[in-house]
Amino acid sequence: MTLTIVGLGPGDPDDLTRRAWKALSEADEVYLRTRHHPTVEHLPAGPELHSFDEVYETAESFDAVYDTIVDRLLKIAASGRDIVYAVPGDPMVAEGTVTRILERAAGQGVDVQIVNGVSFVEPTLALIGVDALPGLQLVDAIDVAVAYHPPINPDYPALVAQVYSRQVASDVKLTLMNQYADDHPVWLVRAAGTAEQSAQEMPLYEIDRQPVDHLTALYVPPVPAGGGKVPIATSFEGFQNTIAHLRAPEGCPWDREQTHETLRQHLWRRPLR
Ligand SMILES: C[S@@+](CC[C@H](N)C(=O)[O-])C[C@H]1O[C@@H](n2cnc3c(N)ncnc32)[C@H](O)[C@@H]1O
Repeated sequence: MTLTIVGLGPGDPDDLTRRAWKALSEADEVYLRTRHHPTVEHLPAGPELHSFDEVYETAESFDAVYDTIVDRLLKIAASGRDIVYAVPGDPMVAEGTVTRILERAAGQGVDVQIVNGVSFVEPTLALIGVDALPGLQLVDAIDVAVAYHPPINPDYPALVAQVYSRQVASDVKLTLMNQYADDHPVWLVRAAGTAEQSAQEMPLYEIDRQPVDHLTALYVPPVPAGGGKVPIATSFEGFQNTIAHLRAPEGCPWDREQTHETLRQHLWRRPLR
């Protein structure tokens, strides 16, 4: 009744951890979220491999895909079998099925073990040469694509996962342009951590004119702070910090005295016609 969830790393078989290799070697059956991952063809011989790729082709949404996969895995594990479920990268990075399994497993009497892997984040950062600190934001291209304004703080870098089609790249671009300049420099990263890895710097408006696939992510550097003695942040959070500073004991006496009532007179009102 144990469901072991194994991270397969970013795509180079050398990045499989020893713990992952052991769990995969000792399994009778391995359920792959997808066969479309470079490490799959280098898995240890022995276990019977199954994949959920056909679910992606028939279900209407990612939510439906994830629910179907989780239903099937928990049903098999709850029937008394120990099984291995293998996912690309790390199980705890952008894996919608894993969080659902963790929420539901205990209720069905299934024990869950996580075997971590190297996620796509580490080789992507190595390829671009940046550190995750300070403030790297990890966001889903699907969430960006459907938004009107990017759910990203532009004072900090962001890594956008799931840029898997030109349509998604185009929708992501349009949303990002509500915050970033059209020619804001970004990096399109493909297959980081594998022999085919590439990272291309380009202006934002170009991202939907490039080939993208299921191993493509977009790195968005922060908007540089404005010039002058005091760096001026771009984000709404930066503006909130400025106001909080002005209203703090060591801030500005005028700002500290203001209320909504006193500020009303400074609001500009369009004359009624
Ligand atoms: C559903 S997420 C799964 C992430 C995985 N759990 C991990 O830890 O790497 C899939 C997305 O991760 C990104 N990705 C996965 N492998 C990648 C790689 N080797 N290079 C760049 N991006 C990658 C792509 O944006 C892809 O659409």
